[in-house]
Amino acid sequence: MELNRKTAEAALTEASRSNPGPWTAHSLYVARSCEAIAGRCHHLSYDLAYLYGLLHDIGRYAGVSSEKHLIDGYRYCMARGWEKAAQICISHAFMIQDIRTSIGEFDVSQEDYLFMEKFVANAVYDDYDRLVQLCDALALPTGFCLLEKRFVDVTIRYGLHPATIDRWKKILELKAFFEKEMGCCIYDLLPGVVENSFC
Ligand SMILES: [Fe+2]
Repeated sequence: MELNRKTAEAALTEASRSNPGPWTAHSLYVARSCEAIAGRCHHLSYDLAYLYGLLHDIGRYAGVSSEKHLIDGYRYCMARGWEKAAQICISHAFMIQDIRTSIGEFDVSQEDYLFMEKFVANAVYDDYDRLVQLCDALALPTGFCLLEKRFVDVTIRYGLHPATIDRWKKILELKAFFEKEMGCCIYDLLPGVVENSFC
């Protein structure tokens, strides 16, 4: 199946029907921030960035789960021939390429865990993987926010993990990387950050 705005948006709509929740609005904001940032980076397509952002949590279609949503999303996209989107369904949770840095629970079979462990270690990330990792941390279900606000939001929900600080550092490095590429601050591109972060 061709991956384009129409098919990706239809996939998200259908997925949100099978498991309604704030993750759908979050996915939309991730997609919009990916699009806005990629639009300022010469080497990236804003269309592809939007699609990858929109689909990164598509595995949530299968129901409420923890890290299982990563492999569910991977399989969902692979079944449609959306290989890069499938990679990002897993890679967005691993800004550090080590499965032990995950903050979630591995509610998957031993076989799936071993698959994911190998996949994460061997994946070759490009700037689309990195962009979705960054934008995942910029989007609450209510809109764009300061990275640090989302860090606290996630940590309150998932708890403190030995890798938490290293994950934050990695995201801040990604922010600096994309800002250098764009020549501007990421927050200049995202409307509503002040309202969402401070009010
Ligand atoms: Fe997400």
